[in-house]
Amino acid sequence: MIIVKFGGIVNNLGKEGGRKMDNIDEGTFGALVCRSEQMKEVCRTIQEIGNADVTVLIEGETGVGKKLAARELHKRNPRRKEKIMGYVDCAAIMPEVIESELFGHKKGSFTGSYYDRKGLFEFANGGTIFIDEISNLSPDLQGKLLLVADEGKIRPVGANEYFGVDVRIIAASNKNLEDLVRKGEFRADLYWRLNVLPINIPPVRERREDINSLASHFMREFSAKHSKEYRDTADCYTESLNLMKLEGNVRELRNLIERELFMPGAIKRVAFSEQRKSVIPTRIDYGSNGKVRPLPEILDEVKIKYIALALEEAGGSKTRAAELLGVKRTTLHLMMKQLGIGHSLL
Ligand SMILES: Nc1ncnc2c1ncn2[C@@H]1O[C@H](COP(=O)(O)OP(=O)(O)O)[C@@H](O)[C@H]1O
Ligand SMILES: [Mg+2]
Repeated sequence: MIIVKFGGIVNNLGKEGGRKMDNIDEGTFGALVCRSEQMKEVCRTIQEIGNADVTVLIEGETGVGKKLAARELHKRNPRRKEKIMGYVDCAAIMPEVIESELFGHKKGSFTGSYYDRKGLFEFANGGTIFIDEISNLSPDLQGKLLLVADEGKIRPVGANEYFGVDVRIIAASNKNLEDLVRKGEFRADLYWRLNVLPINIPPVRERREDINSLASHFMREFSAKHSKEYRDTADCYTESLNLMKLEGNVRELRNLIERELFMPGAIKRVAFSEQRKSVIPTRIDYGSNGKVRPLPEILDEVKIKYIALALEEAGGSKTRAAELLGVKRTTLHLMMKQLGIGHSLL
């Protein structure tokens, strides 16, 4: 598939023919890995609506796979022309430039515009346009977009006449557009126009069953890309991944796997330090603004911090840490369990 990016850069993204591998029940759908029930549901929706010409709104946190889902939607549209999908990232381009990117401009319409330039809607005519991070679109452009969505009409910057285009719009946002509408930050009419078919991709932490499959998928991808063998000892890192928050979602996971390939053990170390950060209080608050805190709470915090310190000095050895703390190894073990840090500090 070809994606026309803003500025006319043409990227060749991925091979065609992903459909041959579609087997949602087995966890694959084109380029998408779908092991969890939530992701399977997303894939089923894409399968059902892929060949319809309806507008689709994809919502989800950053890195959950919105762009990949958009590509799969586009791949399945039989009407797509010359495999082209126009792409514009409203968070990455200056607002003044977006209008000309989308609708094109006439020669002389602003300083430095020496030629007529076609916009993405014209390029993608007969195909799909993917508008990413749509919440960043200015109110003025939201109005112009509504006109294309409703009537298929565009007007290049500096032109007098409107002309018709036939483009399917897929929009994505990492912010909840309905909330923005309520706050008056996004036009309600455009929201309802885009929201014909909503797809919500949940964050990875809500569909942890996907983690292992995604991890092996990326390990295969990167082993091939870097011609580097990796004995698939997934157990070494998936356990650590399962403990991680993965706030950066699939993107974070993918980057971690690539790092693991070059530095085995990297994921374990990252997971360890993330866990530690979340359990060890950085500063113990003995009672700021004269407010006395419950003694057991303070004591627990002191214990956690002190045990972490000892373990650090002992290079992770519990026996040595116990010696440093002047307690038996079994006592330390029990204390860690009671404090709920057994898992996180080891
Ligand atoms: N279900 C999935 N299966 C395989 N790869 C995925 C999946 N979801 C996301 N990815 C990969 O993770 C990265 C981030 O996905 P992307 O679609 O750019 O996220 P978003 O647009 O939501 O920020 C990309 O490299 C993408 O290919
Ligand atoms: Mg994105």
